Amino acid sequence: MPIIAVINQKGGAGKSTVAVHLARWLQKQGKSVLVVDADAQCSSSKWLARLENDVPCQILQAPDVLLDELPKLIDEYNWVIADGPAALSETSRALILTADLVIVPCQPTGVDLESASDTVRLIQQAQRIRRGEPKAMMFVNRAVKGTKLKDEAIEVLRLMPNVMVLDNVLHQRQIIADCYGQNSTVFDLSGSTAGIARREIEQIFKKALEVLNA
Ligand SMILES: Nc1ncnc2c1ncn2[C@@H]1O[C@H](COP(=O)(O)OP(=O)(O)O)[C@@H](O)[C@H]1O
Ligand SMILES: [Mg+2]
Repeated sequence: MPIIAVINQKGGAGKSTVAVHLARWLQKQGKSVLVVDADAQCSSSKWLARLENDVPCQILQAPDVLLDELPKLIDEYNWVIADGPAALSETSRALILTADLVIVPCQPTGVDLESASDTVRLIQQAQRIRRGEPKAMMFVNRAVKGTKLKDEAIEVLRLMPNVMVLDNVLHQRQIIADCYGQNSTVFDLSGSTAGIARREIEQIFKKALEVLNA
């Protein structure tokens, strides 16, 4: 079963948000999921520890440990979601070399778009070594409603080869920003704003499963 790594060298891109939400979304569908927190800040492991519904999580950050342990963990769990660090380090490389799918959330700002090409470079290096693997999917996160920045961002991302860029975006939504402080996810909060965010993020996760043929 799949290992999905969430990678982007920029902090604030939404890696931990995606990792925690994807894990919770799969878990709600009855799947057995493990989150591997590979970021020294440990945001996703702290977040998951405070959720009412227990999502298993292991902190594994050393590249050698990831390369050795990830393939074993996938025998134990149906899905392994790895939350990547805010740097393109050997840890990121180990994750990309082991993952079936790399998800790259990217903010629609010039600096973030430019640095996304460094992430894509690492993915392409792995794809050359592994004959096409891992699959890769990018999407614009934290797009501000009513601006054209997201369309421009999608165009820029589409110039990068071997990576699927989604038309779907995840907008900047207060309810998503509040989830960490509320020890929750949009899949566990009630109310219409949570519902809107839930549907938006779910579209992105469904595309990820399509890419994986899962
Ligand atoms: N779509 C979004 N809308 C609102 N806030 C978001 C969104 N995505 C991420 N955030 C917030 O942005 C900050 C950085 O997100 P995080 O997932 O921690 O990024 P990373 O792990 O890449 O550093 C967090 O405070 C998070 O709540
Ligand atoms: Mg993070």
